[in-house]
Amino acid sequence: MEELGFQEKIGFIGGGNMAKAICEGVVRKGLIRYSQVYVSGPNIQNLLYWKEKGAHVYTENGRVVQEADIIFLAFKPHILPTAIAGVYDTLKHPVKSKLFVSILAGIPMKQLENVLCPLEECARIIRVMPNTPIMVGEGCTVFSAGPKASPSDISLVKKMFEVSGVCQQVPESLINAIGALAGSGPAFVYLILEALADGGVKQGVPRNLAVEFAAQTVLGAAKMSLESGKHTGQLKDEVCSAGGTTIAGIHKLESGGVRGALMDAIEAATKRSQELAQEKHG
Ligand SMILES: NC(=O)c1ccc[n+]([C@@H]2O[C@H](COP(=O)([O-])OP(=O)(O)OC[C@H]3O[C@@H](n4cnc5c(N)ncnc54)[C@H](OP(=O)(O)O)[C@@H]3O)[C@@H](O)[C@H]2O)c1
Repeated sequence: MEELGFQEKIGFIGGGNMAKAICEGVVRKGLIRYSQVYVSGPNIQNLLYWKEKGAHVYTENGRVVQEADIIFLAFKPHILPTAIAGVYDTLKHPVKSKLFVSILAGIPMKQLENVLCPLEECARIIRVMPNTPIMVGEGCTVFSAGPKASPSDISLVKKMFEVSGVCQQVPESLINAIGALAGSGPAFVYLILEALADGGVKQGVPRNLAVEFAAQTVLGAAKMSLESGKHTGQLKDEVCSAGGTTIAGIHKLESGGVRGALMDAIEAATKRSQELAQEKHG
């Protein structure tokens, strides 16, 4: 355990895939130990993973709020009223000085404040939007801080997510758009990977080799983009020799409207998350 580890107790209301990924990242980097972790969920058998790691597990959400200093809301967004009702029903004493970190997609800060303020007057809240590649340490996370969150709350949350990739603070108005780009983005890239591999298979490449090479090619191109400092247009031009094979393929992609389709996908996902937020808020 590093000297720089957190002293705070970390709670998760909802111990599913994202909670596991967030926690495993900070434990792996020595920032916390599982003995500092408190998790609740409705089914005790689904909390066995956590128990075996050494975390404290409860079926009462109020216990996590009671015990932990930093409480992640890590259940599905539509569960919010039930999960918070569960907190009120099972809380034994009033609480103070808690930091709430919501990873609920599409739930705005205002709604989080409305739900949490009766629990603790002027709750400190940070709204975070991670993506699934945090599971392999290559995540993209953005967050917005509520008006009561302190600079040390912000730096703690940033540190927790930086161990699993990149993490940036943004105005809340950008969270839906970045959620579409980085949150839905992995699904768009998987579709592209599958299509690239299918193209290879059509040309006779064995499936397993096609899948591996498609993924490694995307990984390599992403690394070139991040590390070379070159514009993506320049990187593309450097692969396209005059009258060569790549420019023939690029022509097909442009004829098929790939650029427009990807821009449309980000726009559609952004609009959908705005609609969902309205439905949940309204
Ligand atoms: N997946 C993504 O790419 C992504 C990205 C950003 C944000 N998010 C957000 O992350 C959150 C969690 O997603 P996930 O993929 O981790 O979902 P998940 O694997 O389904 O986990 C949800 C957890 O919540 C528990 N739960 C259900 N009802 C509860 C209640 N009343 N009180 C407390 N816990 C309850 C579930 O327990 P049982 O299994 O026992 O029912 C489960 O462990 C969602 O709000 C999602 O919007 C996801």
